[in-house]
Amino acid sequence: MKILMVCLGNICRSPLAEGILKAKVREHGLDWEVDSAGTGSWHVGELPDPRSIATARKHGIDITDQRARQLRPEDLDEYDLILAMDRSNLRDILRLARNDEQRRKVRLIMEFADPDNAQDVPDPYWDDDGFEQVFQMLERAAEGIIAAYGAVAK
Ligand code: 4NP
Repeated sequence: MKILMVCLGNICRSPLAEGILKAKVREHGLDWEVDSAGTGSWHVGELPDPRSIATARKHGIDITDQRARQLRPEDLDEYDLILAMDRSNLRDILRLARNDEQRRKVRLIMEFADPDNAQDVPDPYWDDDGFEQVFQMLERAAEGIIAAYGAVAK
């Protein structure tokens, strides 16, 4: 399995999503590749936002090896699952899709926590208090992803 987490800047939400899922993949002994990217290019090459780093660290997860990168059209071929943090990200990703096989890979991440009522993961960039809530949402989603694919896709 190759899973790509996508948000706008690749510094707040998707680095947390990547770090949380990687920790669960390790716990479950799965051989999955997990990465993250942003639809925008403003923060390319940067570390995750200090508030994301601190929130992850509080939960025992180190995300300081990550550097922001921009989503590329080839990612839609290379990854099995491309998970958008919100509906705006979803639209931007789908704009790069060239065929139905690519389109089928693109999903809202919170579908894996609440299949019938998938929420957007709120952008915490302008809200210092939003990071813990984002972490909690992404942890539920990561558990759902492991439950959905952990037994069948090593
Ligand atoms: P992210 O948050 O998409 O969760 O990484 C944002 C980070 C930066 C900006 C917007 C959202 N920005 O406008 O620079």
